[in-house]
Amino acid sequence: MTDKLWGGRFTAKAAEWVDQFGASISFDQQMAAEDLEGSLAHVAMLGKQGIIPQADAAAITAGLHTLQAKLAAGELKFTVANEDIHLNMESLLTKEIGPVAGKLHTARSRNDQVATDFHLWLKHRLPELLKALTNLQTVLVEKAEQHAGTIMPGYTHLQHAQPITYGHYLLAYFEMFQRDYERFSFNQQHTDMLPLGAAALAGTTFPIDREAVAKTLGFSSVYHNSLDAVSDRDFALEFLSNAAILMQHLSRLAEELILWCTYEFNYVEMADSFATGSSIMPQKKNADFAELTRGKTGRVYGALMGLLTTMKALPLAYNKDMQEDKEPVFDAYTTILGSVHIFAGMLESLTVHETRMHDATTNDFSNATELADYLATKGVPFRQAHAIVGELVLKGIKTHTTLQEMPLPELQAAAPQIEADVYAELSSEAAVNRRTSLGGTAVTNVIKEVARAKECLADR
Ligand code: ARG
Repeated sequence: MTDKLWGGRFTAKAAEWVDQFGASISFDQQMAAEDLEGSLAHVAMLGKQGIIPQADAAAITAGLHTLQAKLAAGELKFTVANEDIHLNMESLLTKEIGPVAGKLHTARSRNDQVATDFHLWLKHRLPELLKALTNLQTVLVEKAEQHAGTIMPGYTHLQHAQPITYGHYLLAYFEMFQRDYERFSFNQQHTDMLPLGAAALAGTTFPIDREAVAKTLGFSSVYHNSLDAVSDRDFALEFLSNAAILMQHLSRLAEELILWCTYEFNYVEMADSFATGSSIMPQKKNADFAELTRGKTGRVYGALMGLLTTMKALPLAYNKDMQEDKEPVFDAYTTILGSVHIFAGMLESLTVHETRMHDATTNDFSNATELADYLATKGVPFRQAHAIVGELVLKGIKTHTTLQEMPLPELQAAAPQIEADVYAELSSEAAVNRRTSLGGTAVTNVIKEVARAKECLADR
């Protein structure tokens, strides 16, 4: 027998560097509080069901409480020799209360224990993420309201397309984060299930009460198949997949803000508190935090791909491969929470150069669709109207004249249907405000959508 907690059938010890390779304590100690919480619920049930004597359950409970206090005080010392958080805690408990600690592992395996700790870890943390998303959405709605009428160029292919409002643009991200919010809320359901009681893989011969443990731990349901309970990491994959999509949204927003901060665009300026300077170039003001978030998207995608690949083709039930599940989730959680906070602060404090945005829509051809639509309403087939306006644009580019600068006779030479009323329709304001179709950029629409967004936030 070796000195491991599972050392009965072993005679030879592993080298320290081998232990080091197999150990997870360096990262799974993040689940220390959850491990104690799970053990407390388990031992309470063991005592109540008469599986172990009440006096032993009480001694173990007292010992676990001592460990909780020591954990809070930063007094617990974990060792690689004890491999992971579960064996470390059992060993520490034994030091506190002696061999009776060994009764805690009755009707339990590390396989259902680790799954329970991991579920609890995420279950405890999803609400904070949802709160941060709500805060980000609140900032977006406030700014959208303020900028419901702030006109800017809308882009396709990063080329001026049609004028929109900055408020409309911000609400596009509100919608994306709303779906992120819904995805993480749904993920809560799959995280809110208790694996404990599955034991190693097949259930247990002891008369345990899993529903009672679930209730104590605040889980709304239990896994109904013991093999699934210890093998399922869907809840973690779902979290990482949601995290990857969220980061994709933040990264697209980051990219736009970075572009808009350039000398060439100059649509917005970061607050000093959300920008950095250069060690050599005194004039620099860099959108570092947007860039860093864009960069961190890579590690979150990596976390998802990593765990998907780890889980691929794993036979049921537990395999040690699954020890690789925690680091990507821990890392992705910290990364997305930080990124969401950063974006809320960054957007809140962003200076918007409204005139510059508006001007970018007046010396371009982003009103070309307006002229084509105008002709279409006068009975010209749209395809023909498109061609007429295309030729006018080509002429305008050559002569440095915008459509609204062209004299009426010139426009009429291209299409006799054009009358003096055309000019009113060629302004960016008209272009925006005529787009009243549901979901369109008209200021009245944006105001309505702001109200809808506020209602949606009020429901939380
Ligand atoms: N440290 C392990 C993990 O994180 C705990 C479960 C170990 N179970 C086992 N049978 N080796 O997955």
